Amino acid sequence: AKEKSAIFIIFGGSGDLAHRKLYPALYRLYKAGVLKDHFAVIGTARRPWSDDYFRETVVTSLENLDDDKQKMEEFAKHFFYQSHNVNDSKHYIALKELAAKLDDQFSAGHNRVYYMAIAPRFFGTVAEHINSEGLKTKNGFNRLVIEKPFGRDLASASELNNDLSKAFPEEEIYRIDHYLGKKMIQEIPNIRLKNPKFDKALSGKYVSNIQVTLGESLGVEDRGGYYETSGVLRDMVQNHIMQIIGSIAMDKPDEMTAESIHKVKTDLFSSLKVLDPEEVNRAFVRGQYDTDRLGKQTAYRDEENVDDNSNIETYAAGKIEFDDERWANVPFYVRSGKRMPDKSSRIDIVFNDQASKLGINPNTTVSLLIEPENGHSILVNGIDYQDSNQDLIKFPEDKTYFDDAREAYESLIIDILSGDRIHFTLWDELQSTWKYIDVIREQWDLETPKFPNYLSGTMGPEAADTLLERDGNSWVWDD
Ligand code: BG6
Repeated sequence: AKEKSAIFIIFGGSGDLAHRKLYPALYRLYKAGVLKDHFAVIGTARRPWSDDYFRETVVTSLENLDDDKQKMEEFAKHFFYQSHNVNDSKHYIALKELAAKLDDQFSAGHNRVYYMAIAPRFFGTVAEHINSEGLKTKNGFNRLVIEKPFGRDLASASELNNDLSKAFPEEEIYRIDHYLGKKMIQEIPNIRLKNPKFDKALSGKYVSNIQVTLGESLGVEDRGGYYETSGVLRDMVQNHIMQIIGSIAMDKPDEMTAESIHKVKTDLFSSLKVLDPEEVNRAFVRGQYDTDRLGKQTAYRDEENVDDNSNIETYAAGKIEFDDERWANVPFYVRSGKRMPDKSSRIDIVFNDQASKLGINPNTTVSLLIEPENGHSILVNGIDYQDSNQDLIKFPEDKTYFDDAREAYESLIIDILSGDRIHFTLWDELQSTWKYIDVIREQWDLETPKFPNYLSGTMGPEAADTLLERDGNSWVWDD
C-alpha cells in the first residue's frame, strides 16, 4: 500500500487498548511501508510521562511481534507524549501546538487522526474541546475514531452521538467495530458477488435458519470492572453479532461503496422485529459461568472486580427475526459466551428442502468460518460434501488467500487514513440495533436470574438448545 501521512493524537495513550492493539498495528503498518517518514503519534493521558518513557512502553508492547530492535527504536522515534487533563482547555492548546510542530517536522500534510482509546464517558468532552480549541486543521483531513462501547442503551448512545455531532460531522466519525476489520467478514459481500447461486439462495425461500456463534474459551480475565457494566448482550450481540448478520443478510448493494453498503445494512436493521417484553424470555436465554467440572477455573462471581452476587450475563443466545420480505420466517439464531469449550467465530447457513430447486442438495449447511480457522465448509446430512456442491460456493480461490491477511486493527487504520468508511458503524445502524437490544436488557433487569447456570468449558445453559429444538432445529456447531 502507498505511504500515508498523519499526526495521530491518541487519547488514552498510556492505556491498555493502545498498547495491546494500536501500537502493534501501527508498527506492522510501519514495517509494511504504509507509515514511513510522514507520521507522528502523540500519546496523551493524565500521567506525567516523558517521551523517552513513553517510547519504552511502546517498544515493550511490540515485544511479541519480532526481534528487530533497531526497527522498533526507529519506529518509536515517531512517538511523543503530552500529559493531559480532558477538562482543561489549556491542555488542548498544548496538544494543538505540539501537533503543528510535529506536522512541520514530519511533513504530515495537516492530517489529524483523533483516536479515543479512553473511557467512554470522556468521548463527548474530548470531541467538544478538539473542536472548540481549534485543533482541527484547514488543509488536511480531521478524523475522529471512537472505540466501543458506543453507549449502553439507545438513550445514552443518542446523547453521546449528539455531543459528537456538535463537534464532528458524521463523515469524519469512524466508529470501530473490530469484527468489521476481520478479513473473512470483509469478504462476505465479495463471496456473495462472486457466487451468484449462493447469493440467490440467501433468502427465506431456500434457507431454514442462519446461526451466528461467537464463542470464546477465555473468561473475563482482568476486565471484570468493565464487564460488570456491560454483559455479553452489550459487549458482543449489539455490535459484533449484529454487524455479522448485516453482512450476510443485507440486500445486494448497488455498488461496493460505503454509501451503498450502509444503505442496505441500515434498511435491514430497520426491519428488525423488536420483541414485545413478554416475548423476551422465549426468544432469549442468558447464562453466567461457574467453575469447571473439576472446580479449577474461577467462577464469574469470584473474578476480580466482580460483585459476589453479580447478575451480569457472560452468555446469551437468542432468536432474531426480520420484518422483511426476503427473510420472512427465517430465524437468525445467535449466541456468544465466555468460557465455552473453544474459541470459535462462525456463521452457519442451514438450507431447506426448496434449495434443491437451485440444485443444492437437501440438508446442506454452509459454514463461513471467521476464527480461528478462515474459509468455509459445506456439509450435507452432516457429512463433508464439498465436491457435489462445487458450484455453490468457491472461496477462497487461492489457498494462500488468508496467509498474509492484515490483522483487524491494521486494516481499519488503513481505512481511516484512506477515508474509507465501509468497515465502520454508522449512527443509523446503531439506533436500530440498540432499540432491539434495549427491550431484552430492560426485561432481564426486572428479573433475578438463577446464576451461575453453566460450567466453564461447556456450551452454555441447556435452555440455549431448547430454544432451537422448539422450532425443530439444532445448533450446527456443537462441542
Ligand atoms: C471485544 C469484547 O469487543 O471482543 C471482548 O469486548 C471480546 O469481551 C472480544 O473478548 C473478542 O474479540 P476477538 O477479536 O478476540 O474475537
